[in-house]
Amino acid sequence: MRSLIDILDLSVQELDELTDTALDIIARPEKYAHACEGKKLATLFFEPSTRTRLSFEAAMYELGGHVLGFSEAASSSAAKGESVADTAKIVSCYADIIAMRHPRDGAALVAALNASIPVINAGDGGHCHPTQTLADLLTIRREKGRFDHLTIGLCGDLKYGRTVHSLVGAMSRYEGTRFVFISPEELRMPDYVRQAMDRQGIPYTETADLDGAMSQLDILYMTRIQRERFADPAQYERLKNSYVLTPEKMAAAKKDMAVLHPLPRVNEISVAVDADPRAAYFRQALNGKYMRMALILKLLDEAKDPAPQAGLPANAVTGGHQCHNRRCICQTEQELAQVFYPGEGGAVRCVWCDTAAD
Ligand code: NCD
Repeated sequence: MRSLIDILDLSVQELDELTDTALDIIARPEKYAHACEGKKLATLFFEPSTRTRLSFEAAMYELGGHVLGFSEAASSSAAKGESVADTAKIVSCYADIIAMRHPRDGAALVAALNASIPVINAGDGGHCHPTQTLADLLTIRREKGRFDHLTIGLCGDLKYGRTVHSLVGAMSRYEGTRFVFISPEELRMPDYVRQAMDRQGIPYTETADLDGAMSQLDILYMTRIQRERFADPAQYERLKNSYVLTPEKMAAAKKDMAVLHPLPRVNEISVAVDADPRAAYFRQALNGKYMRMALILKLLDEAKDPAPQAGLPANAVTGGHQCHNRRCICQTEQELAQVFYPGEGGAVRCVWCDTAAD
């Protein structure tokens, strides 16, 4: 059963096909209006959401399908202590496909390994958010007309912001991509993301200076400082106003730079920027619905031919090391084995959250 847990689960060709399908949905919605008749999408949201959950639900309705689910952990059996694995097994009895958001890194992978229907990762802790990347890609295609030779500035909370981790993975595979990682030192891009760039020879620079980076960017991807993932509230207070994009700052940008943001915004983009034609973030939210329609169609179609459930990487080893990421699903899930895979330079990484282990 094919699931989407990490954006790298999809090849570049598949990403291109999904954006083609989304564009066709936009052009000819009536062709797709009954495509998922009789099918049920379960939206399992253990964490708050507006765009992701509602766009998944709107996507399924616009495909003629049905939706069931919950929008907070408190109204599910998680509140009684049910594991992610058991929830995935149960929901497989009632639905045809799952979209799941969970506060723990790696939770979606645990669900996919236990479900008998496709699982879509709608955000696992501070780890990944592949369907936001699908929304980002359609936005880049529509705003810039291409995926190659783009200089992409990612600004804000690059440590805990799951959307940027997935976007970097996707855009790294296109020719001529350059990244500028703009963040305070404390919120730098995680080492597993940077090491993957180094391994592939993808050029990137790191800076704390948004103004200094502005003029070189084709895309500026702003992000929220992720308050809920900070262990230390004082650190959040110190960093929460690190960046605020204003019309004055936009004056230094290219005339055709696109500003993206997964939203919600707190204060990192001034409302005054919304009127700038380069502000693409509300269009981006709409694009998310079309890409989720394309993805649901693809995964339900593939599920007609039952393929073996994807497993853990062939080089994964159980035990012998310790994952210390306090946000990892391996810290809370009942009897979940600690499993690791070999990373760069002899490092060992947790299979659930990708964090270096000892
Ligand atoms: C993002 C998320 O949930 O990671 N929101 C979204 O899905 N559009 C970004 C965020 O919460 O900051």
